[in-house]
Formats: sequence, structure tokens, C-alpha cells
Amino acid sequence: MKREELAFYGGLKTVDKEFPWPVFDQAEVDAVARAVQSGAWANPNCDGMVAEFEQEFAGYCGTKHAITCANGSVALRLALLACGVKPGDEVIIPPYTFIATASVVAEANCVPVFADIDPDTYNIDPVAVEKVLTPRTKAIIPVHFAGQACNMDALMQIAARHNLKVIEDAAHAHGGEYKGIKLGSIGDAGCFSFQSSKNLTSGEGGIVTTNDEKLAAMVDSLRNVGRVKGGQWYEHHYLGCNYRITQLQIVLLSQQLKRLEEQTRRRNENGLYLNSLLEKIPGITPLTRGHGETLHTYHIYIFRYDKSFFNRLPKREFAALLAAEGVPSFMGYPEPLYKQPVFQKKNFMCYAIPEHVDYTKVHCPVTEKACYEEAVWILQHAMLGTKEDMEKFAGAIAKIQKAVNF
Ligand SMILES: Cc1ncc(COP(=O)(O)O)c(C=O)c1O
Repeated sequence: MKREELAFYGGLKTVDKEFPWPVFDQAEVDAVARAVQSGAWANPNCDGMVAEFEQEFAGYCGTKHAITCANGSVALRLALLACGVKPGDEVIIPPYTFIATASVVAEANCVPVFADIDPDTYNIDPVAVEKVLTPRTKAIIPVHFAGQACNMDALMQIAARHNLKVIEDAAHAHGGEYKGIKLGSIGDAGCFSFQSSKNLTSGEGGIVTTNDEKLAAMVDSLRNVGRVKGGQWYEHHYLGCNYRITQLQIVLLSQQLKRLEEQTRRRNENGLYLNSLLEKIPGITPLTRGHGETLHTYHIYIFRYDKSFFNRLPKREFAALLAAEGVPSFMGYPEPLYKQPVFQKKNFMCYAIPEHVDYTKVHCPVTEKACYEEAVWILQHAMLGTKEDMEKFAGAIAKIQKAVNF
């Protein structure tokens, strides 16, 4: 196998098919058409179809309440505010996540405090959480990264010992389970995104799940310009905003939710199969299973790459070769969140972060290794493929290995 045989250099692609996303059929088209024809496009009172979907999603997650909103970032922001954080409170988050997990903390005038991830799962490491606890810590936002459940037993125990709120960032984890319990139902609140790449999508949108009635009522008010149930139209009790979802999104979500469980189980099965294939390739190590995640949503399938088995080819170049082979894949986050200019330069605009906080001094070695050297992502829609597709993904990696070592 020579380099010229790689698709990147003009050779034949290993995977020659598309993996469509979003998945829909006439049911979605009809549902949207009916909503358009009804003329009920807005969502002024967050009732009717919106409330019905919220009940359905809460039931699916096993929580008492679910409150929709504009997107997953807003879901996190509102859940955090509804937890009662105050300016200057510290909130612990992982640095291997999307910016929203951190930016909502700063937007609440709280201090994002980074705790490193576990090298086997890339989820926030409870030992690292303990190390950054201070008397000012008020909450933890564990991210079920890629759809793999965090070590919730350990995190909930830390939270109970230190009287902390736990907000699960479940943006990747619709339908995922920890010890048989749906994610988003374990902490004080769970936050989901319905953005276009997500496993349950309406293009944009978000939802907060919770068993806490007061928290639910506050999120409901904050998403609806501070109105309260039973109040007048121009009566505003809290500093909310218009963060409402629309009916058109809701009808799409209702249809998409019918597909979610089967899709999640298919991705989970394919992920386990791909693990068994990739374990056989020297220098490729899938993230480990068996940490309590009884159902992994594989919003992202992640494997660790070791360039010493690939003629020292940097990860970025390996990822480009893999994508050219037709595997929907990507090198993932280029750097840990705290390295972003917004944190390095403390570009927080009108939001206040105490003087002593200095993100240039933060160093999370596991996250840095994941970003710079190790993590390669295969995207969720590809995990809806067949067993043969999984074999081709593994085949593409083996092909690259042979070619670069030729
Ligand atoms: C882990 C995580 N949290 C939060 C969000 C924010 O969701 P949204 O894009 O819907 O605002 C995302 C979106 O990509 C995410 O990946």
C-alpha cells in the first residue's frame, strides 16, 4: 500500500456513501405543513403543543418537568440562574467541551473553573473536581461528552458533601443512560440542545429537564421575559428574555423523538462493534466503556490516535487523510477551552470576573493531550450506518497506517 493509493492523494475512497442527517420522511413534512396551515407559528404562552412536547420529553427522561427554550446554551444559562448562583460564585466545568458550557458561567457573572478530564472517557474527572473545590464553589456542570455518561455517582457524592448544584450538560446525550437511568434526570437539572448536528434536532432549540418544581418555574419564567403562570401579559417578575422555542420546531421535535430510541440503540451497538474492530489496530485506542454508561448515544465516536504507530504523522494530517477516505470524521477541538482568547485575555465585556482569576496559568494535561495529539472524532450520523460501514471505517484507518508506514 503506497501513499498514492490514499483517497487524499487521488486513490479510491474506502467509504463511498453518504450518511444523511437529519433523518426524516413524509411524517415530518406533513407535521410542519399542518403547523404552517394552522397559522399557530408562535409560542406566546408556552402552552398547547409546546407543553405537550415538554411533558412527553420529561416522561422520556424520567423527570417531572421539561422546559423548552431557544437553544442548548440558553438552557444551560437559565438552569444555572435558576439554581440561584450569585456573582463571584465558582462553577466547575471540564475544558474539553463546547464554549457554551463555560460562557454561560461567565455570563451569569460567575467564575468558570476548569477541572481536567479522565483519560479513559474524556469526561470530567471527579478527582480533578475535588482538587479545584473552594469555599466559593456553588455548582458543577458535568458534560456527558460525546454521549457517554459522566461518573455521576462520584460527582453527586461530591456535590452532596459540599452542598453544590449539579447541572448536567446533556447536549450530546439525548436518550443516553447511566446505570439504566436516563441522562438529564440525575442532577438538579439537565440541559439538552436541539441544534442541527444533535441526535435530536429541530435545527435549533433546547430544553431543561428537572424534578425541582421551583427550578422549573424559574426557568419557565426566565425563558418568557419574566412572566409567571397566571400573571398578566405585561407583568414581569424576573430579568428574563424572549428565549421561547417556536411551534414549527416543536412539531419537528415530536416526530424526531419517535425515532430517537431506535437510533440511539443502533449507534450504541455500532459503537461497541467499532470498538472491537479498532482495538485490533496498533496505535488506535477507543475510549473505554464500562464506567456506568449503559446506553452511549455516540453523538461523537472518539478514538485515541498514537502517531508513533503512524510514522509520526501529526493527528491533524491523519484526520485529513481519514476524512478523505470518506469517513465522516474530524480532529475535534483544536485546543482546551481555557486557551481560547476569550479566557486568555478575559474578554468578558460587561461581565465581571475577579482580578485574581488568570486563565493563562490553567493547565489540564489530559485535555491538552486529547486536543493536540490524541482525539479523533467520527460523527453521529455515520454511527447510524451498517455493520459493514463500521468495518469500512476500521479498514480506512488500517489502510492509512499501511500507506504511511510503507
Ligand atoms: C456540550 C455542549 N453544550 C452546549 C451546547 C450548546 O447548544 P446550542 O448550540 O444549542 O446552543 C453544545 C452545542 O454544540 C454542546 O456541544
